[in-house]
Amino acid sequence: MWLIFLGPPGSGKGTQAKKLAFDFSVPHISTGDMLREAVARETSAGIKARDYMNKGELVPDEVIDEILVDRLKRDDCFRGVILDGYPRTIPQAETLSGALKDLKVDLIDVIEINVSVDALIKRICGRRSCPSCGATFHIDFLPPRKEGICDKCGKSLVRRADDNEEVVKARYEQYLKKTQPLSEYYKNKGVFRSINGEEPVDEIYKTLLSLLKPYGND
Ligand code: AP5
Repeated sequence: MWLIFLGPPGSGKGTQAKKLAFDFSVPHISTGDMLREAVARETSAGIKARDYMNKGELVPDEVIDEILVDRLKRDDCFRGVILDGYPRTIPQAETLSGALKDLKVDLIDVIEINVSVDALIKRICGRRSCPSCGATFHIDFLPPRKEGICDKCGKSLVRRADDNEEVVKARYEQYLKKTQPLSEYYKNKGVFRSINGEEPVDEIYKTLLSLLKPYGND
């Protein structure tokens, strides 16, 4: 399975990508998670990325391209990957296309998850994440069994530094300006599909499975 999730911040890319990655045994590659880890470890990429992320701006292409291309070279990618948060600009899409050519992959599916801006803000402001295992919850829509505690590993949940209304609006602006043009880009390549992200998580997952039938899930 070679798949790209497009969609604005909070549209549910990570939620759906994690389920698919588990069910299809392919890596879920989230550039946001990779960057947050780099920031926490204070690597040179993390130091370069931190201020952009805190302001809700995109990290420069050259910083993220290098991280992504290195990740795709790892052995676990031989059966495919689910990309969540990459590409986010046309130059990133061109870099990806070159990297896929090197891996002899000629077709990648692109699915955009659509959600209205009001719903995005509610989702993001209520999101809580586990800093240890990466699980995500929502205080209203997907609450953990015990408030503030990860169901999966028992660690305390945190709110991401960029999950506040002001930064979400900046992230959404960046999405409209720099990422949304990718829909047209992939439409022109005949690999683009769009789904309604305002259904319950399991309904969206069913829709995804029906779109991904060629991967043998029926
Ligand atoms: P990143 O971490 O990728 O953030 P994002 O794209 O803004 O997306 P989110 O993780 O916020 O949302 P999501 O769509 O995954 O939603 P989720 O499933 O968690 O990037 C962060 C930053 O890193 C960027 O701003 C940028 O600075 C930098 N960056 C990353 N990649 C980059 C790149 N390629 N180039 C340059 N810079 C880059 O769901 C959200 C919440 O909603 C959760 O609480 C969830 O439980 C809930 N939810 C999910 N689905 C539903 C549903 N159907 N109904 C109700 N609630 C739901």
